Amino acid sequence: MPADSVRPTWSLTDIPYATIEKEKIIGNTDWFYLLAGASFVETLSDLYTRNLVEYYQENVGATTWLRQEWEMEEVQHGHALRRYVLFVWPDFDWERAYQGFVTAYAPCCRTELLGPTHALEMASRCVVETGTASFYTMIQAASPEPVLRQIAAHIRADEVHHYKYFYRIFRQYQAAEKNSRWRIGRELWKRVAEAEQEDSYLAIKNAFEVKNPGEKFFIEDFAAFRKRIGGWVDRYYPFDMAIKMLLKPVALPPMLQRAALPLLSHGARRAILG
Ligand SMILES: [Fe+2]
Ligand SMILES: [Fe+2]
Repeated sequence: MPADSVRPTWSLTDIPYATIEKEKIIGNTDWFYLLAGASFVETLSDLYTRNLVEYYQENVGATTWLRQEWEMEEVQHGHALRRYVLFVWPDFDWERAYQGFVTAYAPCCRTELLGPTHALEMASRCVVETGTASFYTMIQAASPEPVLRQIAAHIRADEVHHYKYFYRIFRQYQAAEKNSRWRIGRELWKRVAEAEQEDSYLAIKNAFEVKNPGEKFFIEDFAAFRKRIGGWVDRYYPFDMAIKMLLKPVALPPMLQRAALPLLSHGARRAILG
């Protein structure tokens, strides 16, 4: 598979952390929870990689890419966000909150939950990368602070690249498996519905409970948090882009896609905003 080698890469040394304009963001704790939570989920990527490598072990090209590029980039996303969070909110015990998240969430990530086929798991990976690409697009647009915008732009570009890679592998397996549109659509839908965000909930819960010793975070608090950030979602979430990326593996005929797009985009907006 041709590697996308012309793509510019980046590292933490490219981020001008020292120029962060703290006062623009420090007062809004929703930013803290959102970024701390995202840093946990990204950092745990070594675990997701292990599972995928096991599942696709016969595919040397894919497993090499997963280990050498995908995992490194995802973990770098986690580190970039962690450093940002600790620059703005230095008293936060990141390590302790992260360990709490790992203990709670790791049992939910098991190889036997992947599948049901190699092509369909790749379609599910496309859903996940669509979610992250859209999330960082929103962060980039909504951020009140310039350095965070830069970080989000870098991460967003990586997530789009991951999507493209997973989509290519999906096509390879799909050529052999020949899953029907209906089956792919059902699998995608299942994954979108599952994204009912066990990982975000646990990430934000652990960030909250470490930041506020003695206080407990419940599912209702998560609902309230999501409602508060609904304003950003409404204004900045790239619904059309997300739906287009989601539908690509289903390969709808262009006319049907054109007809479905506005409806689905509207539906997604309502589903996310409640
Ligand atoms: Fe990522
Ligand atoms: Fe990614």
